[in-house]
Amino acid sequence: MLVSTKEMMAKAVEGHYAVGQFNINNLEWTKAILLTAEELKSPVILGVSEGAGKYMCGYKTVVGMVNGMLEELNITVPVALHLDHGSFEGAKACINAGFSSIMFDGSHYPIEENIAKTTALVNTCDVLGISLEAEVGSIGGECADPDECKMIADLGVTMLAAGIGNIHGKYPENWAGLSFETLAAVKEKVGDMPLVLHGGTGIPADMIKKAISLGVAKINVNTECQLAFAAATREYVEAGKDLQGKGFDPRKLLAPGFEAIKATVKEKMELFGSVGKA
Ligand code: 13P
Repeated sequence: MLVSTKEMMAKAVEGHYAVGQFNINNLEWTKAILLTAEELKSPVILGVSEGAGKYMCGYKTVVGMVNGMLEELNITVPVALHLDHGSFEGAKACINAGFSSIMFDGSHYPIEENIAKTTALVNTCDVLGISLEAEVGSIGGECADPDECKMIADLGVTMLAAGIGNIHGKYPENWAGLSFETLAAVKEKVGDMPLVLHGGTGIPADMIKKAISLGVAKINVNTECQLAFAAATREYVEAGKDLQGKGFDPRKLLAPGFEAIKATVKEKMELFGSVGKA
C-alpha cells in the first residue's frame, strides 16, 4: 500500500539521512526503483512530473501500475507516489487519482499567492493523510529567502524545497556549488521541517553529505537515471547485440538500461544513508 512521506521524513530527520525521490518514466523505471528499494530495505519516493504523468497515459494509469507492482512484486518497504513540481490543478488531479504525496510548486508566484494556494492544499492533504511539499525560490540556481521559507513552513506543509543554488539536469562546469550559507539560514528559521534538495544529479558526494547534515531529508534524482539508461542502451545497440538471436526482444533490449537504473538507485541510496531504514 502506498504511504505518505510523513513518517519516512520524520525518521530521516531524526536519523540524519535522506530518502531518495527517483522520478519514473515508464514500467522499467518503476520496477527497477521498487526492486532496488526492496533489496536494500530502503524507503523510497517515486516522483512523477506532470509531463511524465501525461506520457504514462495519465495519473490513474500511474497509480494502477504502481499499486499493481507493490502487490505483485511483494514490495514491503514504505513507498510514496509523489507529484513532482505540480501545478495547483495537477495537484488536485493527483489527489483524486490516488497519489499519496504531492508537491505544489508555487515558487514562480508572488509569495502571497504561493501562500494562498499552498494553504488551500494543506487543508485538503491533511484531511486525506497525503503529504505535501512546497517550494520557495525556484530551482534554477537561485537562493531562497529564509523568511519566506518560514512563512511557507508555518502553513503546515510536510516538507519544503528551498533553492540553494541547485539546478535540474547536468551542472555546468562553472557551477558555484550549493549555498550552505542559505541552507543553514533556512534551517535556522524552519527548525525540524524536512528540507528537500532538488537537482540531485551530479552533486558531489561531500556536498550531499553536508546538505543532509544541515537538514535535507529528501533528495530528488531524475537525470542521472536517464543518462545511465541511455548509456547502457547505446552500448548494447552499438555492440550489435540487438541483431544477435532475439536481441531485439524489448525484454532483452531494455534489460541493460534497467540494470543501469538499478545500479544508479543503489549508489544514491547508499550515499543518502537510507539503506536498511525501511
Ligand atoms: P535532476 O534531474 O537534476 O536529478 O533533478 C531531479 C529533480 O529535482 C526532480 O524534481
